[in-house]
Amino acid sequence: MSTEEKPYFEGRDVVSMRDFTREEIDAILDVADDVKRAIHDQSAASEFKRKYGKDINDLFQGIKIATLFRENSTRTNFSFRAAVGGLEGFVDGFPSDDYTSFKKGETWGHAVAMFAGWGYDALVCRTKTEGIPRWTQEYLERVHASMISKHKRMGQGYSYRRPMILNGGDGKNQHPTQCFLDLFTMREIARMEGKELDGLEVALLNDLAHGRTNASLMSVAHLFDWKLHFAYPDRFGPQQHRLDDLIRNGVSIEDHGSDFKSAMTAALIAYHSRPQKERVGVGEDLISIKELGRINRVMYDALGINAPYLMHPLPIDAETFEEIAFDIDSHEMNWTKVQSSNGLYVRVALMALGLGLIDSQADLQGKDLIEIVGLSSKMLDLSIGDKDLTHARSGVIPKDGLVIDHIPPGMSRRLDGILGLEQSRLPIISSRYLEVDGGKQPEKDMVKIHCGYDLSEPQLEAIALLAPDATVSVVRGGRVVRKYRPLIGNHVADRVTCGNGACVTNVGIEHVIPKHHLESSESGPVLSCEYCEHTDTVPSVYAANRFRYLSPDHALIGIRRP
Ligand code: CP
Repeated sequence: MSTEEKPYFEGRDVVSMRDFTREEIDAILDVADDVKRAIHDQSAASEFKRKYGKDINDLFQGIKIATLFRENSTRTNFSFRAAVGGLEGFVDGFPSDDYTSFKKGETWGHAVAMFAGWGYDALVCRTKTEGIPRWTQEYLERVHASMISKHKRMGQGYSYRRPMILNGGDGKNQHPTQCFLDLFTMREIARMEGKELDGLEVALLNDLAHGRTNASLMSVAHLFDWKLHFAYPDRFGPQQHRLDDLIRNGVSIEDHGSDFKSAMTAALIAYHSRPQKERVGVGEDLISIKELGRINRVMYDALGINAPYLMHPLPIDAETFEEIAFDIDSHEMNWTKVQSSNGLYVRVALMALGLGLIDSQADLQGKDLIEIVGLSSKMLDLSIGDKDLTHARSGVIPKDGLVIDHIPPGMSRRLDGILGLEQSRLPIISSRYLEVDGGKQPEKDMVKIHCGYDLSEPQLEAIALLAPDATVSVVRGGRVVRKYRPLIGNHVADRVTCGNGACVTNVGIEHVIPKHHLESSESGPVLSCEYCEHTDTVPSVYAANRFRYLSPDHALIGIRRP
């Protein structure tokens, strides 16, 4: 590394496993390996210093982190604190709302902005609101820019650094630092068996509907070409959008239903999990999960030589479920204590890399930046444009107007509303007024606006999303002068709401505007929430009436009065 080059991971947050490539994950696990050895072995500590130019024992000297936890935690909170405090850094924060002004109605954004302003280098966050860590990144960027500019106005060019964000678990969404420690432990087990992480058979067990540790593992399964074996009590299977995601990523899945033994026998590693009673809705069947999900010595011994290594993110809920019975607490295949202790090494590695204290020694390719492509139009041939204008029932457009054609049948009425046309009292005729030819439903819908009108960008985005084959003909003086098809880019803001009620965009207090990435798939575009990662298809958003309606005020922006 030349003196000007910054360390590869410097400035990278740990928000979601989806932000890391396979090569980057390997590189981080390699550093965690070096940290583990250096902490336990003096000669490895000397090697660490030679390799990274830093003494492991005071790696975090001068570093200040805060753990901001709105849900209880033993491992995540205190392993971060042990990691930093044990290596000469400073740690503060709060373990629950009880110690904070959240109790007085404060927002998350305002609270984290305080810690950023006080010069904390890293913030470890845990909340039940999904997508908050991703939003915290952009919110603190804004606060940071504003702090700098306000100090400039006062003639003070002080430096304010936007802290590193580490997601310590956001609802059912992601728990990336747990996932790194799980992968680290799986790699240790695989290597002990003469294997690597690639091609492993992994059983994911029990509450696959609400557990974020399972969700994080599912989001990286394709990177390692795993075969996943699922076993879960009825109604605790993976959420549909996660299954869709796995299928799109080509992950091989075997669903064993409620047959835990079958799933465990098939796998090298069984990843058990706690029923997430804090997230399970009223009326969910907690009895079945208690009866089916309990793994004990009798069951383990019955698996014989096919018994898998047992992992679990912990805690075990011994009070309600005892999903891993105490009689296998020290079983030779129970790897859970090794797993949780590995959390410390992995978290040291993630913070040291992200803060630029050390650099990875791996030869890493730069992560491909996803280019944000905005709305565009495809100009179309005019020769087929005139016929629709003279339709007897919808009326000719004698002067200026607009025709939105090739709308899927039956959609025009709702589209009028979504575009804000219906409420704007424009002279509009939609195909719902057209004659149904010979008793048959029309093969397409059409909307004609009988006055000068330009569609605004949000309206065009909505058309491109809902009716991707729609064409827009612009009429001037009774003639079509331009015909185009609006094309959606790969990013939409504020057009649809997120389908996840726990998403930060649906929690009013933070005022977060919904944003979605669009990814193409064989069955059409997939909308992925930029914050909580919940995915949806356009038909399911339409069916759930989650398109945002543009207000008449907004639509007025589009009117071009002659
Ligand atoms: N595995 C895990 O997240 O444990 P805690 O809830 O105790 O942090």
